[in-house]
Amino acid sequence: MCGIVGAVSKNRNILPILITGLKNLEYRGYDSAGVAYLKNNKINIVKTSGKVSKLENKLNKSDESNIGIAHTRWATHGKANSVNAHPHRVNHITIVHNGIIENFKEIKDMLEKENYSFKSSTDTEVGCALLNYYYEKFNDVDKTIKAFMNKVIGSYAILMIIDNDLDNLYVMKKESPLVIGITDKTNIVASDIRAILKYTNKYYILDDFEYARVNANEVVIKSVKGDILNKELHTIDIKDSDNYKGHYKHYMLKEIMEQKTTILKTVLPFIKEGLDSLKTLPDLTKYKEITIVGCGTAYHAGLVAKYLFEEVTNTRCNVYLASEFRYQNNFLSKDTLTIFISQSGETADTIAALKLVKSKNCPTLGIINVEDSTISYLVDTCLYTKAGSEIAVASTKAYTAQVALLSILVLSHGLRNKTISRDRALEVIDEFKSIEKLITPLLNDKDTYLSIAKNIYKEEDFFYIGRGLDYYLSMEGALKLKEISYIHSESYSAGELKHGTISLIKKNTPVLASATNSCLNPKTISNLKEVLARGADIYLICNDNYKDDTFTIINIPRTSEFIKTVLVIIPYQLIAYYTATLRGTDIDKPKNLAKSVTVE
Ligand code: M6R
Repeated sequence: MCGIVGAVSKNRNILPILITGLKNLEYRGYDSAGVAYLKNNKINIVKTSGKVSKLENKLNKSDESNIGIAHTRWATHGKANSVNAHPHRVNHITIVHNGIIENFKEIKDMLEKENYSFKSSTDTEVGCALLNYYYEKFNDVDKTIKAFMNKVIGSYAILMIIDNDLDNLYVMKKESPLVIGITDKTNIVASDIRAILKYTNKYYILDDFEYARVNANEVVIKSVKGDILNKELHTIDIKDSDNYKGHYKHYMLKEIMEQKTTILKTVLPFIKEGLDSLKTLPDLTKYKEITIVGCGTAYHAGLVAKYLFEEVTNTRCNVYLASEFRYQNNFLSKDTLTIFISQSGETADTIAALKLVKSKNCPTLGIINVEDSTISYLVDTCLYTKAGSEIAVASTKAYTAQVALLSILVLSHGLRNKTISRDRALEVIDEFKSIEKLITPLLNDKDTYLSIAKNIYKEEDFFYIGRGLDYYLSMEGALKLKEISYIHSESYSAGELKHGTISLIKKNTPVLASATNSCLNPKTISNLKEVLARGADIYLICNDNYKDDTFTIINIPRTSEFIKTVLVIIPYQLIAYYTATLRGTDIDKPKNLAKSVTVE
């Protein structure tokens, strides 16, 4: 969602740093952008609805500046227009803000009584006015920030420029990520280190209720009490190529293709020395049950893990959407391990659920892709997927990395609780080691996916069906298609069709099924015949060399259920991708969506 960049320098023009930073954050999703910088001893603000390139065109090409802040906004309070876009400015104070000020209405009422008036519909302008109110009251930055932090309920990463203190940027943080990148005589602040990797890979991470004064020469980080903190300087090792499309037309396609290596990279540390390496994974036998929490694709990865935990290791596992988790009875106990799955590690609903579990002192484990993210710090134990930077909004390689890591976790658990034999575990390890060979033909079968895409891209409804594990996989398949092609697609348990949904099937309705479990396949095939009888066009992913001239069939190699999950999903991902290309949608940045959903 929203992105933040700020920079202050002794000897360089910071405007290119701000614009490059915003461009690097574009993948997160946004609908307006803005920048504030020092020009002729005054703060100059330029804002626009739409893209960063539009903002760049609005800037005076000859402008240069040594201090500035910039923002991409994903609208929460008020429309996506240039009035509501950040930066906001009230008297002496100019800010950009990620997060939500939940008690903004109460603060606004209070400030209106103090004769403040507001131009925008945003909570951020209210926050800006509150900072100005305290600044005028105390004439002291530390006291201003302390009072602000004590008053505001909600989340924020804020960059602030104060009119009569123009050598310094002030930054403050609660529940929204903020890093301070360090370079020689130029310091750069951002909501994500990836935004500024071109300039530095050395950075401080601010924790909640911390703030900092940043200028060209130094960074002073303080706690809300005003104590100076000695924070660790982190270094990130990300290959720049992760952030470039190379010869691919879209990041999504590049990321789908990268699954040739990302799956093995994720599990290799736990299988490279055979069964001994598996023992390095956490021991789950001390827990009676497993609970899994996540959103969207991460939730779907959790469902796959539930299937494996329950069917293979006889361990009860419940999976919850993070947005629902807080508002239901979760039967939390110390005997239940709660696993939080997240690519970004910054999803607000997942963080809220995690905080709830931690408040009850119950054990937590994270399956996270982005290192140094909020969730990775909050969980008791964190296992990282090694998918690398995922830029496309639609998650692909992060999903298969999550599923692979969870599969290996289940495998190690099965060995420990003796539901899986050593021989079987060794077979699964061998399969993972041959993943590239298994997955490459599926990744390369463009003709099949494109010909299916040509049949379906004009449709407005698409049904996905499956049973057992195939049902959970079809949920992820349907999500991929709807988010990037905007075709309405839903997944149904195949056996449920005739309890209602079959009424929607008409001539040429596309139905995509996966049937990769030999016990359940005959039943799924019967369900397919039922929709065929009502005129549906059928596409079937299976691994039985099943032949039927009335269906279009995609065969995947026969493997154990541990690895099948990452094979079945490939046709789903690529059918969605090619369908979206034919519809001409903005594949990497679908409308209304954000890569990292940092509001609840
Ligand atoms: O970063 P997270 O894994 O926590 O994100 C969760 C969902 O927002 C995410 O998976 C979303 O559903 C993707 N756009 C799906 O492709």
